[in-house]
Amino acid sequence: EKNIIILGIETSCDETAVAVVKNGREILSNIVSSQMESHKRFGGVVPEIASRHHVEQITTILEEAMEEANVSFDELDGIAVTEGPGLVGALLIGVNAAKAVAFTQNKPLIGVHHIAGHIYANHIVEELTFPLLTLVVSGGHTELVYMEEHGVFHVIGETRDDAVGEAYDKVARTLGLPYPGGPHIDRLSQEGEPTIPLPRAWLEPNSFDFSFSGLKSAVINTLHNAKQRGEEIPVENIAASFQDSVIDVLVTKTLKAAEEKKVDRILLAGGVAANKGLREQLSTKCEEAGIKLTIPPMSLCTDNAAMIASAGTIFYELGYRSNDQLNGQPGLEL
Ligand code: KG4
Ligand code: ZN
Repeated sequence: EKNIIILGIETSCDETAVAVVKNGREILSNIVSSQMESHKRFGGVVPEIASRHHVEQITTILEEAMEEANVSFDELDGIAVTEGPGLVGALLIGVNAAKAVAFTQNKPLIGVHHIAGHIYANHIVEELTFPLLTLVVSGGHTELVYMEEHGVFHVIGETRDDAVGEAYDKVARTLGLPYPGGPHIDRLSQEGEPTIPLPRAWLEPNSFDFSFSGLKSAVINTLHNAKQRGEEIPVENIAASFQDSVIDVLVTKTLKAAEEKKVDRILLAGGVAANKGLREQLSTKCEEAGIKLTIPPMSLCTDNAAMIASAGTIFYELGYRSNDQLNGQPGLEL
């Protein structure tokens, strides 16, 4: 049987990434150039800076990925690229690079949704089996996605305000922790106790949606009130209380959705999958429920192009093709 070799390109946010993947699961190369250091002093990703970095990096990263994979452009079966969602200026750099390769080499072009990529990072780890449920948690996304087959995504729940990672970063900022704050809160919470009562946004009884802005405000108010009373709350306990609330809601809703949808497989995706507490609690609950849980290694949880190439391979096999009108779509729906 013929091998399918797909080039993947990802530039939706602050990572310039190019990868070559064989048969959707075997990584031949996976190069990620992070701009984190350039954005750190602004406390978040600055779109103009992101675009500039992508322009400066994309050709070099592309050459590196091809060289490391040791394949020629001629051997590629297609070019997969993140078309959205993301920062429009950033997306355009990847889309135009992908178009340039596809049209000069006369290869199929396949636009990939960024979240589809995050989900298919798990396919690289262990072949997907259906039905399954994915909890996608990152700086820009919080979604519960149900799938019965390859390439068809049902978003059964999503955040109504802040993404999980965004909430972590905002709370971290009020605690005076550096950006990105998620890892710092995670670390501090291991040393603290969840002593502060904080709200859990369960929303309507049958909803799988999430909301984290109320929790964020509750943390800010708690800090403010304590300060006015001249009290000092240990930062570890604030971190632990916040994390407890977030994880409780994420894990409870995910397990409830799994039960309702009768799935015996759950995938974790996105940068917040690095969270120690989330991994532990989700693992415990899945084990109790007899559900198989897949969590990719961190290099595949954070933004990368191997996941885009993996999803792109499946779409290629399903016959999806993009044309020369492919464009960056900042608000693309899954
Ligand atoms: O997926 P990602 O690398 O970038 C996108 O947002 O697409 O996710 C980054 C987010 C940041 O908000 C960061 O604070 C959060 O993931 N994060 C964490 C942890 N590690 C990274 N949040 C909680 N606990 C962590 N250990
Ligand atoms: Zn992402």
